[in-house]
Amino acid sequence: MKIDYEASKRYWDANACGKDPIVAGNTMGSDPSFALYRHRCEVRRLKRFADFSGKTMLDLGCGSARFGIALSPLLSAYVGVDISAEQINLAKKALCHCPHVRLFAGNVMDYQAETTFDTVYFSGLLQLLNESDVIEIVEKAYTWLKPNGLLITRDSVVEQYTLFHRNQPEFAQPRNYSCYRKKAKHLAFFPPSKFALLKERDSCSVLPIILPFVIRKFLSRKAYTRICEAYYAAAYRLEPMLFPLGRIFDYRRLRHKFFVFRRL
Ligand SMILES: C[S@@+](CC[C@H](N)C(=O)[O-])C[C@H]1O[C@@H](n2cnc3c(N)ncnc32)[C@H](O)[C@@H]1O
Repeated sequence: MKIDYEASKRYWDANACGKDPIVAGNTMGSDPSFALYRHRCEVRRLKRFADFSGKTMLDLGCGSARFGIALSPLLSAYVGVDISAEQINLAKKALCHCPHVRLFAGNVMDYQAETTFDTVYFSGLLQLLNESDVIEIVEKAYTWLKPNGLLITRDSVVEQYTLFHRNQPEFAQPRNYSCYRKKAKHLAFFPPSKFALLKERDSCSVLPIILPFVIRKFLSRKAYTRICEAYYAAAYRLEPMLFPLGRIFDYRRLRHKFFVFRRL
């Protein structure tokens, strides 16, 4: 599938409409309290990968900059780039009081960094780029990183080797212009001569989604929303314990994963 960036831009512009910046780039499930739960788990995990205090970060495909909002109090500089002007507008509103934050609306393929960074972050972007562009942007990211800097990706990848899903093909998701690649293919974008893989982690446990899914049809919208808010707040606290369970029982073929690389 060839991804049409103009169509993708329209989709992400529409997705930003009237939304909270934490939810706008985070489309899995339609439930805002689940989106908030997932966001908080992902930020907690990201903070465990590195100490971001006083560091600089380039966030490519930053969307409404939910990670910039979470990390900017720690960072000395944060630069976010996104093709969707509407997502960038949400980010600008949320981060307008931060002089060390710069946000640009435009295609990452046209972006030229003026400096080097401690971290380059791709969250949900590489799955939205055509293969030749992934190769090009990873090469550029190498030059935009300081030596020993971190390149972190968070994308949906197809696991081939789970018990029930052997040799699953890659697949395109026309609804949101994504191309979900096999994990091996995703990793092959990062040549071992340039990047050392330090960590691989699921972005969060999605096991808690089961209960709301079951109770939804028995409750009014208002009651469901109230219950979900409290439930997901508790699930966030329990998630570090749920996570190992998830690894045993969760056989989804498509998984949101963090990969952390060190620039050599
Ligand atoms: C899945 S969302 C993730 C947003 C944010 N990084 C997050 O994790 O919440 C993907 C983002 O990539 C942006 N995007 C897609 N193609 C792009 C491109 N060629 N250049 C810049 N941004 C792009 C979309 O506008 C969207 O905001």
